[in-house]
Formats: sequence, C-alpha cells, structure tokens
Amino acid sequence: METWDAIRSRRNVRNDQEQAIAPEDLDQILEAARRTPSAGNQQPWDFVVCTDPEQLAQLAKVWRAAGHVARSAATIALIAPNPDDARSRELLQYDLGQATMSIMLAAADLGIGSAHSAVSDQELARRLLAFPEDRFCAWLVSLGTPGDRTLRPIARPNRRPFEDVVHRGRW
Ligand SMILES: Cc1cc2nc3c(=O)[nH]c(=O)nc-3n(C[C@H](O)[C@H](O)[C@H](O)COP(=O)(O)O)c2cc1C
Repeated sequence: METWDAIRSRRNVRNDQEQAIAPEDLDQILEAARRTPSAGNQQPWDFVVCTDPEQLAQLAKVWRAAGHVARSAATIALIAPNPDDARSRELLQYDLGQATMSIMLAAADLGIGSAHSAVSDQELARRLLAFPEDRFCAWLVSLGTPGDRTLRPIARPNRRPFEDVVHRGRW
C-alpha cells in the first residue's frame, strides 16, 4: 500500500482479527516500532509480542475495553520504565504514542488491522508477560487481518473538519 493510502485506511479494527499474520509481516511491524524516533533517542520501550490464543484471552482481561485483544492474531505490549517525574512521563507518553502509530501504519501498509488498548491491571499484565519490576505495561496494540471490512481509504473519517483544526500562520 502507498503511505498515503495506509494513513487513510488505518482505523481501529476490533473484530475477528484471528487470521494468523505471517511471521515476516509481524517482524516488519516490530521493526517499524524499533525505528520510531524518541526524545534524546532514548528508545524507552520494549515490545512483547504475543500470539498464543490462551495468553491473548488472559491479556484481554487487563482492561475493560481490551476484549479485542482476545480476538487478535497477535498483540504487541508496549513495556516502558516507570517515569521518575512529570516531564519524563510526558516525554515517555509522546514516544510511546509515536511507536504506536509506527506499528499501526506499518500494519495498515500490509493490510493488517490494529487496535489500541489501555492497561489497568498491571499485576495481571506482569504475570502474563513477565516484564521486570521497574517496568510497566503502557499500552497494548492488537493486530489481525480484518474479518469484516478490508482496509481501504476512508473517504469521510469521523474527525473534526479540516478548516476547524488547521490554522494558517496564526490561530
Ligand atoms: C491513547 C488511546 C487509548 C485508547 N484506548 C482504547 C482502549 O482501551 N480500547 C479501545 O477499544 N480503543 C481504544 N482506543 C481507540 C480509540 O477509541 C480510537 O482510536 C478512536 O475512537 C478513533 O477511531 P479510529 O482509531 O478508528 O480512527 C484508544 C486510542 C488512543 C489514542
């Protein structure tokens, strides 16, 4: 897919993503995550990729709106260090947002759907993913081939109007 088409096609895909993802496609998505820019190039992330259906079913319990994780072919957990202060927390979340978008656009480019999930139950996430004590599971991104509608550019996205959000020169 062309970049512009991938940008316009990405949407949260929460249904029937179970069809397996080719290992090389999954690695390409993870490589996109690894290449994400970060503040000071600190790369404050590790990625735990899960494909086992049993594990995915358990992982879906870390947040009340994470049901799509159980139906995914793979889910990437974004693991990060506990931030020391407000500024580090701010930068960390910016970096993780960029990594998330890298994952989602690389997936869309391959025709693979993706969906975010927050993580509330850190103890369950730690038990399932075995990340160290000084880290937390910041976000989950589920992946899979859309079972309902294939990805294609969305003509009228559910967004604020262009002229409302774009300011030229000054507000
Ligand atoms: C920071 C963030 C957290 C989100 N958390 C969840 C979540 O926990 N569960 C979920 O189903 N969707 C979650 N979403 C998806 C948003 O609801 C979705 O991106 C938004 O409604 C726009 O729809 P679209 O992604 O299809 O364009 C999250 C999105 C972001 C950016």
